[in-house]
Amino acid sequence: MNPNLNLARPEILTLQPYVYAAWDHRYERMHANENPWRAAGDDSTLGLNVYPESPAEALHARLAELYGVNIRQVLAGRGSDEGIDLLIRSFCRAGQDSIITCPPTFGFYRVAAEVQGAGVIEVPLIRSNEGFALDADKVLAACHNNTNVKLVFLCSPGNPPGNALDRAQMLSLCTQLNGRALVVVDEAYVEFTGRPSFTQVLADHPNLVILRTLSKAYALAGSRCGTTIADAEIISVLARVIPPYAIPTSTVESVLAATAPEQRTRIAQQIELLISERSRLSQELQHCSLIRHVFPSDANFILVECVDADVVFNAAKSVGLVVRDQRKQPQCGQCLRITVGTPEQNARLLQGIRNAGKLSA
Ligand SMILES: Cc1ncc(COP(=O)(O)O)c(C=O)c1O
Repeated sequence: MNPNLNLARPEILTLQPYVYAAWDHRYERMHANENPWRAAGDDSTLGLNVYPESPAEALHARLAELYGVNIRQVLAGRGSDEGIDLLIRSFCRAGQDSIITCPPTFGFYRVAAEVQGAGVIEVPLIRSNEGFALDADKVLAACHNNTNVKLVFLCSPGNPPGNALDRAQMLSLCTQLNGRALVVVDEAYVEFTGRPSFTQVLADHPNLVILRTLSKAYALAGSRCGTTIADAEIISVLARVIPPYAIPTSTVESVLAATAPEQRTRIAQQIELLISERSRLSQELQHCSLIRHVFPSDANFILVECVDADVVFNAAKSVGLVVRDQRKQPQCGQCLRITVGTPEQNARLLQGIRNAGKLSA
């Protein structure tokens, strides 16, 4: 048995999961109180009048193949947001357990923890001009000082920092926290790094959980499909907690179509284009008088520190573009996060920032 299973809430481990209306193609369905006719405009293959297959076998098979893991090691959710929520709900007892986050980082870890009544211990990343680095010793110390830490969220590449964290440090944390906390590596942007995913070392680390999403590199943010990847026993805990029929038919069908093997070359080419636009945009931004510092990025966005963030924010708006204000994030005073867009959008943004720079000179 995976020793990390004992970290889960005891009542979840003993929970009798909901029993789904069985899926058997040999029979017509009169067991799930569905409507026997399709709705107007329903052009799905399965029919939206029936509940989707649950758990979604075809979808899970595709995700397992895409990420190079076993089907029993994946659980699809409505975005990786749902994976984050399921992990916290399954492992953190309200009012007792905590998660660790390393800010500046993705804001939903905290929100999901607060909804569950879990504590949030922050171990800030260490900022330098080369990016934001993990303070692994402090993460370990925080776990030592607080035995009720159940989950350590490591976002790599980080949002908003943009850079990937040190792999050796992350692996060492997994090893040292085995049996004491799950290490959740959020790889929402990993396809833009050119580095291997942590899925490759899953077999060596029973407390490792990886979050992947189709929202970024696969251009499917509107489909809402994220994947939690972990040891099969950890996944089976989360599968008890996810609501019945969680993944809509429209999501399953759009994901199967968009991630089909014949689409992979196109996807890879688009990722390449975004990476080359990222480096072009980064270089050009470095020469803008309104930008004080451009942080290195392994993602599909760039964190910039401005002389005055309001001026750059409004410069983007003046050319019809909105970028993300990051000033509320710790260590991110005057910082904005710019998503890499099409070549035309990136050129327009640069023009807007340059024009504003001339005006303020
Ligand atoms: C680091 C990180 N994790 C997770 C998510 C959630 O992604 P989704 O729910 O679309 O899969 C995001 C979204 O921006 C993100 O930046």
